[in-house]
Amino acid sequence: MRRFRAKASKATQAQSRLKELNRMQEIAPAHIDSPFRFHFPKLDQLPNFLMQVEALTIGFDAPLVQKINLAVRSETRIGLLGFNGSGKSTLLKVLAQQLEPLAGDITRAKKLKVGYYAQHQVDELNQQSTPFELIQKLDPKASAQEVRNYLGGFDFRGDRINEKIGIFSGGEKARLALAKVVRSEPNLLLMDEPTNHLDLEMVHALTVALQEYEGALIIVSHDRHLLSNTVDEFYSIHQGVFAEFKGDLKEYEKWLSKQQTPGQDNPATSNAGSPEQKLDKKQQRQQAAAIREQRAPLRKREKQLERDIDRLNKELGKIEVLLADSALYDDENKAKLTKALQQQGDLKTELAKTEEAWLEVLEQLGV
Ligand SMILES: Nc1ncnc2c1ncn2[C@@H]1O[C@H](COP(=O)(O)OP(=O)(O)O)[C@@H](O)[C@H]1O
Ligand SMILES: [Mg+2]
Repeated sequence: MRRFRAKASKATQAQSRLKELNRMQEIAPAHIDSPFRFHFPKLDQLPNFLMQVEALTIGFDAPLVQKINLAVRSETRIGLLGFNGSGKSTLLKVLAQQLEPLAGDITRAKKLKVGYYAQHQVDELNQQSTPFELIQKLDPKASAQEVRNYLGGFDFRGDRINEKIGIFSGGEKARLALAKVVRSEPNLLLMDEPTNHLDLEMVHALTVALQEYEGALIIVSHDRHLLSNTVDEFYSIHQGVFAEFKGDLKEYEKWLSKQQTPGQDNPATSNAGSPEQKLDKKQQRQQAAAIREQRAPLRKREKQLERDIDRLNKELGKIEVLLADSALYDDENKAKLTKALQQQGDLKTELAKTEEAWLEVLEQLGV
């Protein structure tokens, strides 16, 4: 039964996000003069499974964070918390393949499309290029008018779209960097402090756009309103440990205030770790090894079920194409139609069963 509760709680979270969205749309008149309004494109590729991170160690010369495990699925929405310097940006960089991990594995879905907004994204724009060129390069098939309309949503209008990026203000460059990421149609969005340099209206537009966004999201932000309105769960990096934080932002702050701040030497709390890491190093190692051993066959089954789901979806797709043909509804094709409908029913039942089994495996894996 637990999995239904897990599912139900995800659904509730999604619902409260929706409610919030409605509320934000109601208050939108206050923002009616806002020059900013944009949406993430509708996704035609959103695989259930996007990324599996296993026993990942990140850092530079020395490890910063170890044993990072994380499953990223289409519905994943994570707020990543931690002190300055704890390794949040480093982790996003590794997930975005901008930096090699020190150890561990990342498995990526074939159809994964990462949109990465780096903390210093603004400096990474080609300063010699123009907004128009930047967007057109991403989408060469778009007409000039479409590109102009799109840039209008980020308040780049008229001649501005043909000016060199180098002369723009920090805020304008941030908006442009955002326009670039949004246009790339990501199904996994990795955002590192996206509100730096943005004004309030633009932060609002971003919040609304992220609420509507259909893909998966991992976001680092000091903006509590943005975080609490766009994510469903929190993870923290604390003293080299990456772990889920089971609580809201208020609880996190309370918990944090009880922790040792970096640089302080406070033996009374130095072993505190995160709420879930009260074991000593050796116990942690043993536990991790035991968990890995237990999980291997489950992982295999998970992969198999994912392949099955994929296959069933494809077969269903084919039947649906068949059923869309109006000739099938002619009298002489009655037998064919009956057969197709029968197959469709069977496939749907099988798909539901397979998804159920898959959820069960996920539950056992604790993801
Ligand atoms: N290119 C780099 N080379 C060496 N150390 C780095 C580099 N980038 C960041 N660091 C260090 O790694 C640590 C984590 O940085 P970062 O991931 O940016 O933290 P956060 O985003 O959580 O504030 C910091 O101590 C930082 O100084
Ligand atoms: Mg950072």
